[in-house]
Amino acid sequence: MTENNDLKFDTLAVWAAEEGPFPHGAAVTPIYSSSTFAHDNLDEWHAVATGRSAGHIYSRNSNPTLTVLEQKIALLDGTQAAAAFSTGMAAISSALFALLRHGDRVVSIRDSYGGTNVLFEEFLPRFGIKVTLCDTTDFEQAEAEIAKGCQLVYLETPTNPTLKIVDIERLCRAASAVGATTITDNTFATPVNQKPAALGSDLVLHSATKFLSGHSDVLAGVVSGRSDLMRKIHHFREIAGATLSPEGAYAVLRGMKTLGLRMARHNSSAQLIAEHLRRHPKIVEVLYPGLSSHPGHEIATRQMSGFGGVLSFVPVGGDPALSTVLDSLRLAQRAAHLGGVATTAGPPKVTSHVELTAEERARAGIPETLIRYSVGIEDPADLLTDLDAALAQI
Ligand SMILES: Cc1ncc(COP(=O)(O)O)c(C=O)c1O
Repeated sequence: MTENNDLKFDTLAVWAAEEGPFPHGAAVTPIYSSSTFAHDNLDEWHAVATGRSAGHIYSRNSNPTLTVLEQKIALLDGTQAAAAFSTGMAAISSALFALLRHGDRVVSIRDSYGGTNVLFEEFLPRFGIKVTLCDTTDFEQAEAEIAKGCQLVYLETPTNPTLKIVDIERLCRAASAVGATTITDNTFATPVNQKPAALGSDLVLHSATKFLSGHSDVLAGVVSGRSDLMRKIHHFREIAGATLSPEGAYAVLRGMKTLGLRMARHNSSAQLIAEHLRRHPKIVEVLYPGLSSHPGHEIATRQMSGFGGVLSFVPVGGDPALSTVLDSLRLAQRAAHLGGVATTAGPPKVTSHVELTAEERARAGIPETLIRYSVGIEDPADLLTDLDAALAQI
């Protein structure tokens, strides 16, 4: 399938790395639910163990179902290789610990995902790694910090939950000028809407728990990128052991076949709802990069082909209105999640940023009454009616 680069995204999402033939003519990639793999003789076993022959030894290291998923994601991301992990956070922490060492310096943004931020503020410094977090949209500040010298630049765009946009190409150029490796968390965009590798990012990160799998039934994470870096990450995964299970890999593969279809609906419904809410008298503010009023709209238009399925908004009326709106929504799961086929809504103050104090959230620019709304694939007319009915209760 690597030679068929002329095939379009939706075709690759179905076929890439899954041409078969599978045992017994099976129509889908089998779940190789096997912890280990047996060999006919010692020579063959030794050849696989030392990498001279293709094959599998032990599922913490590699597994045929996982390999299919990894090849598919690398093809869709336009990268050389990928590694799948048990969660998005396992992918992020493994990539960081595989690549960094004592004395290194990381430059990143203030608005990275809450868990990533904890790695930067709490764990990496314990290992003698310095982290500088820049204002997420002050690219001059980030460029200046990168130019001082660093080994790794870590980006995420659009950000969670305030949908800020980071200029990937600009900051990757700055990183490459000082020889730093770049990682971009592409969870909100997915490879349908954004290709960080084509914009210069060495590695691309996905919480596959979200849009990639899309059905809220699996936790998974994937790193993909340059093969020299991926070799180090694979090696770390073998030892740290946060490998994705074959069952998890199957669930992500099944979800990914409809990724293009789902993202088209997520994109168009989120745009419609964001525009509707922007005009709504019961709404103070709407954050969505597809709105021309969004400060990152121009960069998003340049680096994204769709603006994604997540938007955030603040209803009028403070705390009481927050509960009223959330509790009145019929077509939204009140849950700490996003990217599923079902609409999900929740306030960052009880989900992604629950561990921060109100002052810390204010400093991070997260209003106490912000609602993050992950638009599902339901009929958008029903979602608009549901939102209007909930807002009418204020
Ligand atoms: C942008 C982003 N990155 C990473 C993660 C972590 O992924 P997981 O929950 O699969 O560990 C999340 C989770 O919400 C996220 O939103």
